[in-house]
Amino acid sequence: MEFRHLGRSGLLVSEISYGNWITHGSQVEEDAAKLCVRAALDEGITTFDTADVYAGTKAEEVLGRALKGVRRESLEIFTKVYWPTGPGPNDRGLSRKHITESVHGSLRRLQTDYVDLYQAHRFDNSTPLEETLKTFDDLVRQGKVLYVGVSEWTAGQIAQALKIADEMGFDRIVSNQPQYSALWRVIEAEVVPLSEKEGVSQIVWSPIAQGVLSGKYLPGQPPPAGSRATSESGAGFISRFLEDDVLTRVQELKPIAADLGLTMAQLAVAWVLQNPNVASAIVGATRPEQVRDNVKAVGVKLDAEVLKRIDDALGPIVERDPAKTVSPEKRP
Ligand SMILES: NC(=O)c1ccc[n+]([C@@H]2O[C@H](COP(=O)([O-])OP(=O)(O)OC[C@H]3O[C@@H](n4cnc5c(N)ncnc54)[C@H](OP(=O)(O)O)[C@@H]3O)[C@@H](O)[C@H]2O)c1
Repeated sequence: MEFRHLGRSGLLVSEISYGNWITHGSQVEEDAAKLCVRAALDEGITTFDTADVYAGTKAEEVLGRALKGVRRESLEIFTKVYWPTGPGPNDRGLSRKHITESVHGSLRRLQTDYVDLYQAHRFDNSTPLEETLKTFDDLVRQGKVLYVGVSEWTAGQIAQALKIADEMGFDRIVSNQPQYSALWRVIEAEVVPLSEKEGVSQIVWSPIAQGVLSGKYLPGQPPPAGSRATSESGAGFISRFLEDDVLTRVQELKPIAADLGLTMAQLAVAWVLQNPNVASAIVGATRPEQVRDNVKAVGVKLDAEVLKRIDDALGPIVERDPAKTVSPEKRP
């Protein structure tokens, strides 16, 4: 495993992190979840990402049990707040009330006294940014949270948060967690340049496009049995990539991966790690073999010619529009 700094902070994170969206507490049974976490630890992954909302809070519980007994100092545990975790109007968003209540729930479920990184899962248009940042800063001072970050924020929103933090002396955000893959590059035009200038890292999600970039979904064919596309919890999320034109283009990556002696999943993970603003690629897994496959992307260098071959293969299906980074207008 190799490690990168999270933004301009002293914290090191593993280049590959393990995330449990859709899987823990939902698509996979607890035994499989524990085996995947064990495989991640065995492969040198130290960084684990979850959120209060995953599987209606059950994902944090599963991760807490799976990591029980592991030396806390050897782990970086990341979680998030924003999406609804209960029926009430205050069970969501980035108000002082919800953040404070949610972090306590996360710490209890994760069976830990602190999280290493606490992330605003989206931008909350219904809470003054000062209120959110002051609450995050209070949690840092209380030692419940060591670093703060955001997820799917635009360059403008990140810049605004940094300005307020600098003016008020609040803890600065060190990371953003956006979707990023060879198919989804919407952060490149605005978020990455701003983040590089400000010492903010990207911790990127769905680097394999939820499994699509592994090449296992074939155009015109039903999805493989047991895959995310066939699962009740995941099918709706992956559907945006299951168009025949996307799947046909993705198959053209196969010879590129083969020439490099990589699996397509490894090529996909290696691709995001070529961007120096990416601190870590968060991979998901339903089976330990997938974790072991994906970590081999660490240390792989893709030269300019390979990157061009990938661009030529994918062509017009790559999404680059920065306007695709959006948070809900109103709290969900
Ligand atoms: N901040 C946010 O808003 C946000 C949103 C989404 C995700 N995330 C984070 O990012 C993490 C990763 O997201 P993701 O699960 O979509 O990432 P991903 O790594 O792109 O996709 C993971 C899925 O792809 C399949 N897969 C993985 N490795 C494979 C391999 N080697 N060969 C074949 N199939 C493979 C597995 O699904 P099957 O076996 O079921 O096919 C696995 O569950 C999440 O757990 C979460 O922590 C954050």
